[in-house]
Amino acid sequence: MNSVRNLRRGFHEDSITAETIMAVTYKKMSDYTTVTKTSAIREGRGKAFTVNGKRIAIFNENGVFCAVDNTCPHAMGSLGRGRIRNGIAVCPSHGYAYDTETGECHTDSRLRIRTYPLIVEGEEIKVSC
Ligand code: FES
Repeated sequence: MNSVRNLRRGFHEDSITAETIMAVTYKKMSDYTTVTKTSAIREGRGKAFTVNGKRIAIFNENGVFCAVDNTCPHAMGSLGRGRIRNGIAVCPSHGYAYDTETGECHTDSRLRIRTYPLIVEGEEIKVSC
């Protein structure tokens, strides 16, 4: 289960275990698109990207990366312009908070965002969406 969690939160190739490889197989490596480099996203912050026609936000929390929908379902704010702390991304528009593993909104339980599998290979961040 930890390996699936790592998949969602991103991992470095150094930390790949047999368990992780098994978890990765549910998504073929060819399903992942290289999006950016790890150095492009400041610690504690997000950044928005267009990947395969979708707007996604990638966050960096202490060198652990995760990918979610960029559009905040509250009022279409850009989550990628927000911050992350303890796995919670905060929309800069009105402060709604989203769990980056489950996509649940802690501010309004009716709202949810999608989360996307992400891997880090060397300096490259790759996302499946
Ligand atoms: S648009 Fe994100 S909190 Fe309002």
